[in-house]
Amino acid sequence: MTATETEQLRSLAEKHLWMHSADWAQVALEGEPLIMVQGQGMRVTDSEGNSWIDANAGYASVNVGYGRQEIAEAAYEQMRQISYFPQRSANPPTIRLVAKLAQITPGSLSRTFLSSGGSEANETALKIARAYHHRRGENNRHKIISRRGSYHGATAGVLWLGSAEGTVLSDYDPSYPGVLHAPQPNSYRCEYESSNATECATRCATAIEELIQTHGAETVAAVIAEPVTSGPGAIVPGDGYWPRLREICDRYGVLLIADEVITGFGRTGKMFAVEHWNVVPDLITMAKGMCSTYLPLGATIARQEIADEFTGEGRCFQHVFTAAGHPVPAAAGLKNIEIIEREKLVENAREVGAYFRCHLQALQEKHAMIGDVRGIGLMLSMELVADRKTKACFPVEQKIPRRLMAAFKKRRLLLRAHGNVIINLSPPLCVSRPDVDEIVALIDDSLAEVGKELDS
Ligand SMILES: Cc1ncc(COP(=O)(O)O)c(C=O)c1O
Repeated sequence: MTATETEQLRSLAEKHLWMHSADWAQVALEGEPLIMVQGQGMRVTDSEGNSWIDANAGYASVNVGYGRQEIAEAAYEQMRQISYFPQRSANPPTIRLVAKLAQITPGSLSRTFLSSGGSEANETALKIARAYHHRRGENNRHKIISRRGSYHGATAGVLWLGSAEGTVLSDYDPSYPGVLHAPQPNSYRCEYESSNATECATRCATAIEELIQTHGAETVAAVIAEPVTSGPGAIVPGDGYWPRLREICDRYGVLLIADEVITGFGRTGKMFAVEHWNVVPDLITMAKGMCSTYLPLGATIARQEIADEFTGEGRCFQHVFTAAGHPVPAAAGLKNIEIIEREKLVENAREVGAYFRCHLQALQEKHAMIGDVRGIGLMLSMELVADRKTKACFPVEQKIPRRLMAAFKKRRLLLRAHGNVIINLSPPLCVSRPDVDEIVALIDDSLAEVGKELDS
C-alpha cells in the first residue's frame, strides 16, 4: 500500500471509526491507527510494510496464529454452499461443531447454544442459569456472584460482573440488579493478606460461601468465574479453589459457570482450563480461541442435566441471536479445532509456556521493577512495582504503561501494559522457543530503557 493510501485511510479512520476503548484524536496525534494488512504465525505486517510481533495474539484470541489458509478455505467453501439460514433449521458445520464441543469438554457438558462472542456467551449463560431455577420452581434465585477484578464482557448485563480495573462503570448506572462481588484468589495481592496460594484460595472460596449464606441460597442463581483470571494479570488460583467452588455450588444448589473465553482451546496447556483441577462446571462459556477470531464465534455449553430442564411443554429456552449458529464461523471453528489437535498446540502451549515463564523469571533477576511473574501455559503476566519488597505501585503520574507501550512500539512489539502495572503475554499457541527468545529480548530491552528513563 502506498504512503498516500495509508494516510487517506488514517484520515478516514480518524473521522469515522469508533475505536475500541481509545480516544481517536489521541490515536491520530500518535500517527496511528496502525493499519494491519497481513499476518503469518505470530507476526503481522502493517500498510507501510513493517513487521510486528503480536505477543498478545489479538485479544488473547488468535490461538492458531495468523495466515491459516485452511480456515479461510473452510469459510469460503461453506459460504459458497449455504451462507446462512435460520428458523429452527440446522446446517452440517453447526451440528458437527456442537458435537465436537461435547467431545472435547469435560464430563456431561453436552448441549451448546452458539453465539458470536464472549459477551453473548456469558449473557446466554446468565439467562440459562436464571431460567433453569425458574423451571424448577425456585423463582427467587436471580443473584449472580462474580469476582472483583474479573471481566466477563461489554454488553449491558455482563458489564456489571467482575468490575475489572480500568473499566469505568459510572457512565452506565444504574447497575444490573443482583450482582454480588467476591474476592479474587490472587496470592500476590490477596484481600486476606495471605501470600500462600493455598490459603488465599481457601479464604476466597469461603468468601463465596459466606456471600451465599448472607444473601440466602434461595436468592442465588450462579457463580461465574474464569479458571485463570486475565484482568489483574494471569491469576492462577491455589489448587483447592475450583474443587471447593464446585463443592459450595453443589451444597447450595447454585450453578457454577466457568468463563473460558480466554482460557479455552488450549491457552493454559489444557483444552479447557478447568481440567487442571478435574472440575466439571454446569456451564462453560467460550469464544476467542474457538475460531481463533478468524470470524466471530462464541458458545455456551451446558451439562445434560441443566439442558434437560428446557424440554417439555412451555419449557423451551426463548433466546435467539440472528447470527447464532451461523454456518460460516462454525465451519471455520471446526477447522480451527482440527488444527489445534493436529498440531498439538495444547501441548505446545504447556511446554513453550513453561519455557517462556522461566525466561520471564530470569528477567525478574535483572529488572527490579518486575514484582511478580505468574500464569500458566501461554497465559502469562508480569506485575511491575515501584518497590519489590513492599509491592508498592508506581505513582500514576510516572505513566509507566504509556512509557512501556512506547518502548514496545519502538521495537515493533505489540504488547499492552495496563493498570498499575500489568503486562499480559498471550502469544499464539504455535509459538516456538526461538519466538519466545525474540519476545523476551525485546521486553528486556524495553524494560531497560524505561528503567533508565526513571533513573535519569
Ligand atoms: C474472560 C472474558 N470473558 C468474556 C469476554 C468478552 O468477550 P467478547 O469480547 O468476545 O464479547 C472477554 C473478552 O476479553 C474475556 O476476556
